[in-house]
Amino acid sequence: MKHKALIGITAAAAILSAAAPLDVQAQDAPKTMTGTIDPAKTKFDISPTMYGVFFEDINFAADGGLYAELIKNRSFEFPNGLSGWETDGQVRIVKGEEGDVPFPRNPHYVRVTAEPHRDRWTALDNAGFRGLPFEKDKTYHLSVMARLAPGTAEPVKFDAAFVREDGTMEARTPFTVNSREWKEYKVDVKAASTQARGKFRLLLNGHRGTVDFDHISLFPEDTWKGRANGLRNDLAQAIADLKPKVFRFPGGCIVEGTTLDERYQWKNTVGPVGNRPLNSNRWNNTFIDHLTPDYFQSCGLGFFEFFQFCEDVGAEPLPVLNMGLACQFQNDRNDLTQQVAVDQLGPYIQDCLDLIEFANGPVTSAWGKLRADMGHPEPFNMKFIGIGNEQWGKLYTDRLPSFLKAIREKYPDIKIIGGSGPYPDGEEFEYLWPKMREFKADLVDEHYYRDPEWFLSHIDRYDKYDRNGPKVFAGEYACHDDPPNSLRAALCEAAFLTGIERNADVVRMSSYAPLLSNYYAWQWAHDMIWFDTTTVVKTPNYLVQKLYSNNVGTRTLDLSGLGKLPADCYCGAVLDESEDGSSVILKFINLGKTAVPISINILGIADGTEVSVVGFKGADLASRNDLSNPELIKLEESTLKINGTGIFGAKQDPFSFMVYRIPVK
Ligand code: AHR
Repeated sequence: MKHKALIGITAAAAILSAAAPLDVQAQDAPKTMTGTIDPAKTKFDISPTMYGVFFEDINFAADGGLYAELIKNRSFEFPNGLSGWETDGQVRIVKGEEGDVPFPRNPHYVRVTAEPHRDRWTALDNAGFRGLPFEKDKTYHLSVMARLAPGTAEPVKFDAAFVREDGTMEARTPFTVNSREWKEYKVDVKAASTQARGKFRLLLNGHRGTVDFDHISLFPEDTWKGRANGLRNDLAQAIADLKPKVFRFPGGCIVEGTTLDERYQWKNTVGPVGNRPLNSNRWNNTFIDHLTPDYFQSCGLGFFEFFQFCEDVGAEPLPVLNMGLACQFQNDRNDLTQQVAVDQLGPYIQDCLDLIEFANGPVTSAWGKLRADMGHPEPFNMKFIGIGNEQWGKLYTDRLPSFLKAIREKYPDIKIIGGSGPYPDGEEFEYLWPKMREFKADLVDEHYYRDPEWFLSHIDRYDKYDRNGPKVFAGEYACHDDPPNSLRAALCEAAFLTGIERNADVVRMSSYAPLLSNYYAWQWAHDMIWFDTTTVVKTPNYLVQKLYSNNVGTRTLDLSGLGKLPADCYCGAVLDESEDGSSVILKFINLGKTAVPISINILGIADGTEVSVVGFKGADLASRNDLSNPELIKLEESTLKINGTGIFGAKQDPFSFMVYRIPVK
C-alpha cells in the first residue's frame, strides 16, 4: 500500500490533470441563486465541536514551529551531538554518567575548554531551525545548565550574544560560571537589530578553564500569553483565531513512530522540560527528496502544554495514543518486532488510563499530582480520546477491544474515537466501519486527502450515511491540488463542507490536515499555515476553516425551498441562535468565472436589517498566498442592507467564498 503522503508531495502533476476546469457552465443551470429559507424550519443540532484543529509535529510544526524555543539540539542529544551547532576552539560532546548529569534522560552534554592563545577563542554558535530570528529591542531569555569541569577551580567568564546575518556579533551580555556543581544560569539578552536568519553565540571570554554546558535554551520574552517554555506568538495566535472547538494532538503518524521505540510516549513529554527525552521524528527520513535528518522531538511542547493550549483557545482536547503498532505504512505487517502481541498490551492500555488521570484526576492521584506540580491543579476536563492514529486491518481490530473495555470500565464518560483507516473508501474502509459499529466506537475518524474533483463529487457523501451508530470525525482531510493550497483547493473544501454542515447529525467533528509547515523544512506539501522564521502565511484553506469555525451556527436549516444552484456554485445555510437573537448564516461558494446574483426570501427578515459579509476571492483558481505575497487572498468584510423588498440580495464575485450573517426575528 502506498502512503498517500507520497501523493501529497510527488504527484502534483497527476493531480493537475485530475483538476479539470471547474467552470464549465451546465446548459440548463440558472444564472441566479434564488429560493426561500424559513428560519423556523430547522433540522439538526450542530455539534459545538464541529470545526477543530489537528496538530501534528510534521514539517517542523513543533520544534522550529509552534514551540518558541530558538535553539536546535539544546540538549546535545541528536545522534550527531553537535548537530545545529558551529564551534570554534575546543568543544566536545560527553556522555555523562547517571548521578553526574543534570538530566539523566538526556545524558549528553558539551565540554568547552578555553583556548590558551590570546588571539584564539572558544565559542558555540546555534543557527536555530533554518535560521534563528531576533528583533530589535526585544528581550530573549537564555537559560543554561553549567558547571566548572573537574580540574577547573576558578570561575570562567562567558558572553551571550546575537550574531547578524552578515556575521557581525552584537553587544555581548556577560555571565560567569562559578560552581562546580550543575547549576542553572539565566541571562537576558537584548537584540540590537532585526534579523530573520541570525545566530546565537556563547563565547568563552578568556583563555583558561573548562566548563560543561547542558540544555542551552533561548526563548523570546514575547511568547504567546507570556508563558515560560511557551509558544511562538504569531503561530499560536493564527491557530487561536480559528476558534477551534476541538484540538487533536500530537498526530498523525508520529503517534505510531517509524518503530515502536520511537512512538510518541506522552509520559516522556511531561515533567521538567530538560528531562524529557529526545525522540526521533517519524517524518525525518520518510521522503527521499525531502530528507530532514535534523528533525527530532525535544518534547518541550508536550502533553501538558497541549492541554493548556486547548484550555486557552477554548478547544476540547483530543489526544491520540499509540495502541501497540508502529506506523503501518512504514512496517511490514508480518514484522512482529513492530507490533505488540495482543496479550502484551497492558502498558499501552495503562498509558491511556494514566493519561485520563493526568488530565482529569484529583491532585491526590499520582498523575493528577504531576499535573498540579506542573502548575494546573484544576482538571483539564478531557472528554475524548483517540486509540491508534490511522490503523487498519486485523492488526488494529484485534487490539482495539481491550483498550475499549479498560477505558469504558474505568471512565465510562470518555468518548472513544476509532478509525476507518487511511482512505475514505475501499477495502480497509469497508472492513473497519462495521467493526467500529460492532465495537460501539463513539466516533469514527475518517481521512481523505483527495483532488478537487473528488471533493466536488462527494459533497453528498454524508447524505447517505446511516443516522444510527457511531458519529463521524472527519479527522484529516485536505484537497490536494497543483499548486498546493490553491484557491481552487480551498473553494472545493468550502463546497465539501456544505455537505458536512447539512449532515451535522452524522458528522460531529472535523479538522483539516496538516496544520503547520515550515517553508524550509517541510515533508508534506499541502498544509493550512506556512511559515518561516518571521512570517506566517495563512493559505486560502486556512481562511475556509476560519470562516466555517467562526460561523458554526446551532441548527441546520431545511434548504428544500432553495432553487437549483447556478453552475459551479455551492450553498449552505444554518441558524445561529444566541441570547442576542438569531441569524441565518448563509455560506456561498462560487467556483465559476462569472458573478452570481443571489436573491433569497428569508422569512422573518426585517427591512433595514444590516447583513454582515465576510469572505475572500481571487483572480484565478490557481492563485495562492506565499512568502512573497502572504495576503494576496485575504478576508474582506463589509455590510449590506435589506431594503424595500424584505428579500436578501447580493452579487457574489467569481472565484469566491462568502459568509452572510443575516439577523432574523
Ligand atoms: O497529515 C499527514 C499524515 O497523513 C498523518 O500523519 C497521517 O495520519 C496521515 O497519513
